[in-house]
Amino acid sequence: MLMNNLGRLGMLLPFREWANNGVVKKYYKDYFQRLNGGTFLEIGCGNGTGAKIIKKCFSPKKIVATDLDPFMINVAKRNVHDPLIIFETGDATKLKYQTGQFDGVFVFDALHHIPGPQWQDCLKEIYRVLKPGGLFFIYDVSIEYFETFIGRVLRPLYVHPYDSMYRRDEFIDFLPKLNFKILKKEFLSRHFLTVVEKP
Ligand SMILES: C[S@@+](CC[C@H](N)C(=O)[O-])C[C@H]1O[C@@H](n2cnc3c(N)ncnc32)[C@H](O)[C@@H]1O
Repeated sequence: MLMNNLGRLGMLLPFREWANNGVVKKYYKDYFQRLNGGTFLEIGCGNGTGAKIIKKCFSPKKIVATDLDPFMINVAKRNVHDPLIIFETGDATKLKYQTGQFDGVFVFDALHHIPGPQWQDCLKEIYRVLKPGGLFFIYDVSIEYFETFIGRVLRPLYVHPYDSMYRRDEFIDFLPKLNFKILKKEFLSRHFLTVVEKP
């Protein structure tokens, strides 16, 4: 689901990079060595800072960073100039990539934008494009956040699929149903975070 202009404006603020950088450095560091030199996909890349952080930490061969919104892809292309990072528009529920192509797939705050039941299609697609032994890193919020006081205040200001957004446990419980193995699971103040493996 496309963001409104306020949502897009929020993506231009520098704290996005600071927040995502903190997550990768603190929670994903155990996997830097394992995936070093791999080929990665980022879903819902926004302004491109996630791809920059992945590049710095995992020393990849290549990163493909996609977003549904051509506006955000243009912002990312203006922000990040790196021959190893390819930015392209694409819908996370219908990935155009080959089966078993990626060593790692990353999501920072993007899956809660996908209405139900299409978020399940997105997870199936991510499973498909990962290599066996590949890892999927998820850092996102769920409908529970928009049920808090702050979340209720924010609701009318932003566009999200509030009526069909997943609940946190529903999302996490769906991962083993696709045969993902959960390696890490953390509940942070607003976000949840999981690292899962395609066996
Ligand atoms: C909150 S932003 C997060 C951007 C970036 N990952 C970050 O952390 O700064 C969510 C992004 O997901 C994208 N998005 C929403 N639905 C999508 C879909 N079906 N496929 C790919 N990207 C999608 C939006 O266009 C937006 O750029």
